Amino acid sequence: MYAIDHNDLGTPAAAAGEPVTLEIDGSTVTVPAGTSVMRAAALAGGHIPKLCATDTLKAFGSCRLCLVEIEGRKGFPASCTTQVAEGMKVRTQSPRIEKLRRGVVELYVSDHPLDCEECPANGHCELQDAAEELGVTGSRYADGGATQRGVAQDASNPYFVFNPDLCIVCSRCVRACDETQGTLALTIEGRGFGSRVSASQHQPFLESECVSCGACVEACPTAALTEKLPIALGAPTKAVSTTCGYCGVGCSFKAEVKGETVVRMVPNRAGSANKGHACVKGRFAFGYATHADRVRKPMIRKRITDPWREVSWEEAINYTASEFKRIQQKYGPDSVGGITSSRCTNEETFLVQKLVRAALGTNNVDTCARVCHSATGYGLKHTLGESAGTQAFTSVTKADVIMVIGANPTDGHPVFASQLKRRLRQGAKLIVIDPRVIDLVRSPHIEATAHLQLLPGTNVAVINALAHVVVTEGLANDAYAEARCEVDTYRKWKAFVSQPKNSPEATEAISGVPAALVRKAARIYAAGPNSAIYYGLGVTEHSQGTTMVMGIANLAMATGNLGREGVGVSPLRGQNNVQGSCDMGSFPHEFSGYRHVSDGPTRSLFEAAWHAKLASEPGLRIPNMFEAALDGSFRALYIQGEDFVQSDPNTNHVVAALSAMECVVVQDLFLIETARYAHVFLPGASFLEKDGTFTNAERRISRVRKVTEPLAGLADWEITMQLAQALGYPMHYTHPSEIMDEIARLTPTFHGVSYEKLERLGSIQWPCNDAAPEGTPTMHVGSFVRGKGKFYLTEYVPTSERSTSRFPLLLTTGRVLYQYNVGTQTRRTSNLAWQEEDRLDMHPDDAEDRGIKDGDWVGVTSRTGDMVMRAVVSRRMTPGVVYTTFHFPESGVNLVTTENSDWATNCPEYKVTAVEVVKVGQPEAWQERIRSERSAQRRPAVPAT
Ligand code: SF4
Ligand code: SF4
Ligand code: SF4
Ligand code: FES
Repeated sequence: MYAIDHNDLGTPAAAAGEPVTLEIDGSTVTVPAGTSVMRAAALAGGHIPKLCATDTLKAFGSCRLCLVEIEGRKGFPASCTTQVAEGMKVRTQSPRIEKLRRGVVELYVSDHPLDCEECPANGHCELQDAAEELGVTGSRYADGGATQRGVAQDASNPYFVFNPDLCIVCSRCVRACDETQGTLALTIEGRGFGSRVSASQHQPFLESECVSCGACVEACPTAALTEKLPIALGAPTKAVSTTCGYCGVGCSFKAEVKGETVVRMVPNRAGSANKGHACVKGRFAFGYATHADRVRKPMIRKRITDPWREVSWEEAINYTASEFKRIQQKYGPDSVGGITSSRCTNEETFLVQKLVRAALGTNNVDTCARVCHSATGYGLKHTLGESAGTQAFTSVTKADVIMVIGANPTDGHPVFASQLKRRLRQGAKLIVIDPRVIDLVRSPHIEATAHLQLLPGTNVAVINALAHVVVTEGLANDAYAEARCEVDTYRKWKAFVSQPKNSPEATEAISGVPAALVRKAARIYAAGPNSAIYYGLGVTEHSQGTTMVMGIANLAMATGNLGREGVGVSPLRGQNNVQGSCDMGSFPHEFSGYRHVSDGPTRSLFEAAWHAKLASEPGLRIPNMFEAALDGSFRALYIQGEDFVQSDPNTNHVVAALSAMECVVVQDLFLIETARYAHVFLPGASFLEKDGTFTNAERRISRVRKVTEPLAGLADWEITMQLAQALGYPMHYTHPSEIMDEIARLTPTFHGVSYEKLERLGSIQWPCNDAAPEGTPTMHVGSFVRGKGKFYLTEYVPTSERSTSRFPLLLTTGRVLYQYNVGTQTRRTSNLAWQEEDRLDMHPDDAEDRGIKDGDWVGVTSRTGDMVMRAVVSRRMTPGVVYTTFHFPESGVNLVTTENSDWATNCPEYKVTAVEVVKVGQPEAWQERIRSERSAQRRPAVPAT
């Protein structure tokens, strides 16, 4: 049977201190000062039994099983809480020690009988191990405790069960929830034999504050907290290291497998992004990969009103190729295009853009990052010189001030949020700029020093006001900015932000943020000394998304907060491979590595490598493709892993555009909403079914490894390759590593990347080349990538989307922890137990004005459409602002959002829609229909238009 190979050293590593040499059982060992005797013994190859200690948590010293003898010291100190000292002599084994340890185990066994044969943890229980090691088979203190016996199991959580009978009250779960996760949902109630673990106010786990990260389950030494699936499916037989397919944190996992079934996802302790932690999605919500809804056969149909016809791969691919050729012949080479997916691998994304540029001869390729972080790429490239975040996640551990703008890390990037919260508990200051009271503003042991609760659409006014304070109060770091940035742009920027119109007092009327609070936040940020900015889609998804990204970069440059650990500008990427899909040349104007298609030498490089003539003019962006489809000039689209109909704004417009095309090809796991308008369906592979790489929000390239075979027979890169061949373009790879080799050859920032190196180093942060052979954790050290940093003037231009007497409220959108993006994956998992519908959050004053109570159905109307959902009356909202998520198709949230978009990149303005909300009796008929169809997870998407 497969067993986890992790060797638990008992206590965490000490911070690198002076070397200390001691003797343990006659062997000499040297370890850093601050190391525990238990860890030193383990590092020396010895073993001390333990129950309450584990190397992911601080030592607690409660079980007394790990006691040792130390020469010159009285008694038997616990080795987990005793630090090494120079010349110390330790004995870990002796008859007296063994007797004491046996007594400890007997006490535990009195309360937790060794009924191991019937226990799900049989063979994986640390109490069982200790008993065996010490030869304990029963207890002299029979039923001395028996305190937990008969207490009902708590199976409320869909993924794990708590069995108090098996609890030894070691407190590892409580400490995991505090230290690793930072939710503090668990306590030990009562005293002595009466003590027991309790979630929140003695609630079932599902109803408590628990966010189901699983850290407590992993930390539990017995079967008191156990995952349900391994009990149901049996022990795994092998493990494969891979990377999470959900968010941009990019957690590393060991996928434990039995046959072709994943039994458990164990966070990888060696994973650089997550260091052994995970969230509910990555750890538990993988069941969608084998959901009955997965499409396993290619399908085609002549018209979108025809029924689907299952066909062979050969027929589907030949049909697609012949349609694309026919359409290009009839309407010209630019009448077709392709979309890459931020959920697919780098290699797959690279192949799609290669197919579009080289096989179809057009630059009409775009990516779903268009609708999330395209503004980041543009803004950071122009100011700093590179379209990516500047830091590694671990940088946050050195930050003194953390500014979070338009991001909700506890829901969107949970594992990073745990790191961030740890730093806050250590005393770092927090500034939150967000229209909502997000969890970070106030949660156990955390309180934001300043929460700037601005009105949606006023980010730029606020960043200018912060800059105004920094400059006019003499808080800028002139020496840094003048040495490292273009001095003329810096001076112009200073003059611009110093203007009275940008003062906090002047912008208060625009943003709603009190001037004093802006001044306070600016002073805290400028004082640092290490100040870091983390931001999300609340920055980019605006008509001034790019302006705001530039404003953030300006502020960081002016205060000298770039180019070292603890500082920086870090966009938190939503999906697993948003960074990668952008890096791989998915935009219509750029080859991989962000090089413009009009650049002759770069184009020649690709033409020589691809043996094809490439277009020098940028192609169409997604919204332009839709416009061109409605004009009749754009007729065919190859979509890899993207559900426009649910994710893109103004759904009716998207549907009309797709309906106007002659050949829409959807490559996906499920019959997504967009597939309703498709002529060809190519069944894709989940992240568990293929090899490749993802690049996370810290530019970290990590391997995705095939855990099971593709359900439909082909990985996505193989589908694209076969389509290219059917189009008459030679494309031959036998493994994704060969695609990465090509990417490395053609992309300067990837020159040093290879699968061999990824295998050796675990992961690599690009740039990785001769100048940085092992990658670049921190960007812009010493100088900016573009040479001198460039300041841009960031004039605040109000969005045209404003509240009016007809639409007096502003709707803004976001995500919840348990669902992911358009919900295609998470809606097909037990995460529905926490959230099974989108809801509208509104402030009590707005609700009262409209006679709306918590749970009422409400109609939400904007100038583009309407929807009905349930209201949640919540003080998280500021009056005048309402909020919802977009995870469920029956909500039709994007029927309401508008066509407004960022001036530079067309990133949609999801975050600001003027609406009115009224109480209604029930959802629309089409919503009810979709809801009931969704229960079978086989439904079309939007109302007929
Ligand atoms: S699952 Fe996570 S959040 Fe829930 S109690 Fe355990 S450690 Fe805490
Ligand atoms: S549930 Fe497990 S980890 Fe928590 S106190 Fe009980 S035995 Fe220890
Ligand atoms: S934090 Fe993101 S990458 Fe990590 S397990 Fe959760 S969803 Fe996956
Ligand atoms: S392991 Fe040291 S006291 Fe429990």
